[in-house]
Amino acid sequence: MIHQKIDTERLRLRRWKREDHAPFAELCSDPYVMQFIGNGSTRTAEQAGRSIASFEREWDEKGYGLFAVEEKRTGDLIGFTGLSRPDFLPEILPSIEIGWRFSRPSWGKGHASEAAAAALSFGVTELGISDIVSICQIGNRASVRIMQKLGMVFDRETIDPTCGREIEVYRLPEQLE
Ligand SMILES: CC(C)(COP(=O)(O)OP(=O)(O)OC[C@H]1O[C@@H](n2cnc3c(N)ncnc32)[C@H](O)[C@@H]1OP(=O)(O)O)[C@@H](O)C(=O)NCCC(=O)NCCS
Repeated sequence: MIHQKIDTERLRLRRWKREDHAPFAELCSDPYVMQFIGNGSTRTAEQAGRSIASFEREWDEKGYGLFAVEEKRTGDLIGFTGLSRPDFLPEILPSIEIGWRFSRPSWGKGHASEAAAAALSFGVTELGISDIVSICQIGNRASVRIMQKLGMVFDRETIDPTCGREIEVYRLPEQLE
């Protein structure tokens, strides 16, 4: 079985555990974190718990998923990154999405870039997935910057059918026609 754990210089990417529920609920209750996600609304602790259950289900059923990201120095959960199937945007399927979400205190330190690069490399090298996109709402400049740093290139602008907001799709260049 492929090892679903990655250590980078400062971070550990791993499967989810019970202790992650409280810190994940806290970051999903932060309006700054959630402003570019869906309709921008924050999540309850119960909704955040259901999200963790669905992340774990995707790992079990599909063999890829969103990693919990922990800072090695403190052991704190600071966010997630990894692969998921973008069912909310049927026009992009069967591409797989790489995404990320980090707690506000962790921003600005390169953690998201470091974790996303490791998750992308895991997807391409370990899992053999190359049809990878990344999707963000217009205005989410930090996310676009991470996509560019990952070597992804602009693919299209479209609308998120679940909330009506404008989104940008970036793609790993091998998949450009
Ligand atoms: C997107 C997110 C993970 C970025 O976190 P971060 O800590 O700023 O990420 P990093 O430190 O790795 O840096 C990201 C890059 O974007 C740049 N950046 C950060 N904020 C920016 C902004 N407002 N405008 C332009 N660039 C920005 C950084 O300078 C860095 O680029 P650099 O390495 O060339 O200097 C974080 O803001 C977040 O969790 N947001 C909420 C969740 C979210 O929107 N997820 C994505 C949904 S598509």
